[in-house]
Amino acid sequence: MTRTGAIRRTEDTGYSGDRTSSQFSLQALVAEARAQQQNGIAERIVDAMASDSRKRRSVARPQSYHVPLELSEMLVELKADRRLKDLILSPEVSTEVQEFISEYADMALLRSHGLEPRHKVLLVGPPGTGKTSLAEVLAHELRMPFYVVRYDGLIGSFLGETATRLRKLTDFVASQRCVVFFDEFDTVGKERGDTQETGEIKRVVSSLLLQMDSIPTNCVIVCATNHPELLDRAVWRRFELRVDVPLPGSQEISQWFNRLRKDFGAAIASVEKEFVSTLNGMNFSDIEAFTLDVRRKIVLSRGKLAADQALAEGLAKLRQKRSTPGETDHSRQTDNKDPSKRRRIKADKRPPEGPLPEGTLI
Ligand SMILES: Nc1ncnc2c1ncn2[C@@H]1O[C@H](COP(=O)(O)OP(=O)(O)OP(=O)(O)O)[C@@H](O)[C@H]1O
Ligand SMILES: [Mg+2]
Repeated sequence: MTRTGAIRRTEDTGYSGDRTSSQFSLQALVAEARAQQQNGIAERIVDAMASDSRKRRSVARPQSYHVPLELSEMLVELKADRRLKDLILSPEVSTEVQEFISEYADMALLRSHGLEPRHKVLLVGPPGTGKTSLAEVLAHELRMPFYVVRYDGLIGSFLGETATRLRKLTDFVASQRCVVFFDEFDTVGKERGDTQETGEIKRVVSSLLLQMDSIPTNCVIVCATNHPELLDRAVWRRFELRVDVPLPGSQEISQWFNRLRKDFGAAIASVEKEFVSTLNGMNFSDIEAFTLDVRRKIVLSRGKLAADQALAEGLAKLRQKRSTPGETDHSRQTDNKDPSKRRRIKADKRPPEGPLPEGTLI
């Protein structure tokens, strides 16, 4: 590709946005280096540009600042304020995530030894367990913009349209230091042999897989799913880090309770056991909703309702609801007390190991 061609490609993909002319030239150099297979050089320029833009953004970081207009239908930049310590994680998840963050942050050291950090992450777990929150945490802790893919803007109704959009999207994120998040990834990553699916979806998945391989390490790809069984093995093996995000167990619910204790005071200690046993089996999202409900009641009582009493009443109500015939509590489908059991249940949903069946596209 000629230099002019490289510059035109940069313009087409919308990298330039409202940047200055010097940045524009750097972007053209990146495109040219990539075209000449000099990915190492391209990444170093991208890193330098990102570090420069981080410095400029450190005072205030406006939202949707980076996403070019032509991609705004399929990519949204969200503010990533959540810190790792804000989440309550099982020891396994916490270790995996911390290791990933440290490894990524030490990219320079790895590169000096000819190694690259992992940058493709799959988060698997039931709804409301913190997958989206974890993706946000990664962006926050790595100090990178957080881009979320919008499938309604990505999937087009015309043949080939989706693949073209996907290419534009991956071209853009490949040029950035960023975290790009595909939530409910099974929507696009569905088993390609699924006869219910249209040819378009299969093509999308194939191009996504190919493009995923060509996205450089400056972009962290995070995908999340509640349905790992819908992902085929070709998709599954693309990820360098797969994290099972389980429902909270007794320990994690106790930690949640301890945070409440900081707000409500030691007086609520008497309801801890009841709190943990009643909420065991629920996801964080529901636990959060329950807690907010209790807080609201306390505030509205104008000082008449003590926190321990409000909690005890809320828990009693929840238990009563569960014991009422006809009331189904969807959150209590697993015995969540045994962490090894929680992990085993999810691990069984993984596609079987072994060679891919014949006819697999990738
Ligand atoms: N590990 C956690 N620690 C503390 N709060 C959590 C945790 N996980 C989830 N929450 C709370 O529950 C809410 C929902 O979590 P989140 O959206 O991250 O779950 P999810 O796994 O992405 O769910 P879904 O599969 O439905 O998209 C969050 O806003 C957060 O406040
Ligand atoms: Mg989510």
